[in-house]
Amino acid sequence: MMTRPTKVASILTVTAMLISLSSSETPAACSVIQGLPGLNGRDGRDGTNGLKGDPGVRGEPGPQGERGSPGQPGKVGPKGNSGEKGNAGVGGLPGSKGQKGDNGVGLQGLPGQKGDKGNSDASLSPKITSLESRVAAIERMFTTFKNAVLFARGSSSGNKVFVTSGKTMNYMESNEMCTKAGGRVATPLNADENRAILQIAQYYNIFPFLGITDLQTEGTFRYENGESIKYSNWNLREPNQDGEEDCVEMYSSGKWNDKKCQEQRLNICEFF
Ligand code: GLC
Ligand code: CA
Repeated sequence: MMTRPTKVASILTVTAMLISLSSSETPAACSVIQGLPGLNGRDGRDGTNGLKGDPGVRGEPGPQGERGSPGQPGKVGPKGNSGEKGNAGVGGLPGSKGQKGDNGVGLQGLPGQKGDKGNSDASLSPKITSLESRVAAIERMFTTFKNAVLFARGSSSGNKVFVTSGKTMNYMESNEMCTKAGGRVATPLNADENRAILQIAQYYNIFPFLGITDLQTEGTFRYENGESIKYSNWNLREPNQDGEEDCVEMYSSGKWNDKKCQEQRLNICEFF
């Protein structure tokens, strides 16, 4: 592409050549030479804005939006009407035996009135079904609750549940704490219960006192209820009453040693 000054220069050169050529010709032969095309004109100025166009055609509906977040819970509804009267409840336990009365001579009483008609099987059946499902729900809740307790700091053997408060204390304090909680100091009655108690102790790496002492009769180890023990797991050469040792501690091996009740040991209680 030729730049504008170069293009102008070449046009001037050609024009000059043509003039000199025409001047060297003899004047007799007169002729007309056509001029060259002019330069390109400048760009025009911007025009005024055109008129506003007609509105466009309505578009297709868009895709469905995402689901909104749930609203706030509604207010509590009004109290319902009273239900129908329920069936008679189960009879209470028999009362305690009365005192012996004075001897006397009485007449035989009249026969009592005929009792009310009992419930038929047909009317009991839906109640039993409802009770069964409620009992099943309570059983499921109980299992979940038990798992929650055991998960935190407990263990079990059969129906017995062992739980630690995670605190160390002497035997009397441990006994008091367990009793207040509705249980007893952990008392293994067989090898599996011994294992379950040991499991908690090993987790904490602190070892417990068991619910066994010879405080009542020196040399006879008993449970808290006064019965002499039926299962034992003494370490070799124990119990040895080394000084004054009336309580029983569990070693990290699960074996037992008689030990001073004032020592600090892990509090583990048992329930059921
Ligand atoms: C420690 C204990 C005691 C135990 C003995 C065994 O002295 O305090 O109870 O019998 O060790 O070697
Ligand atoms: Ca000992």
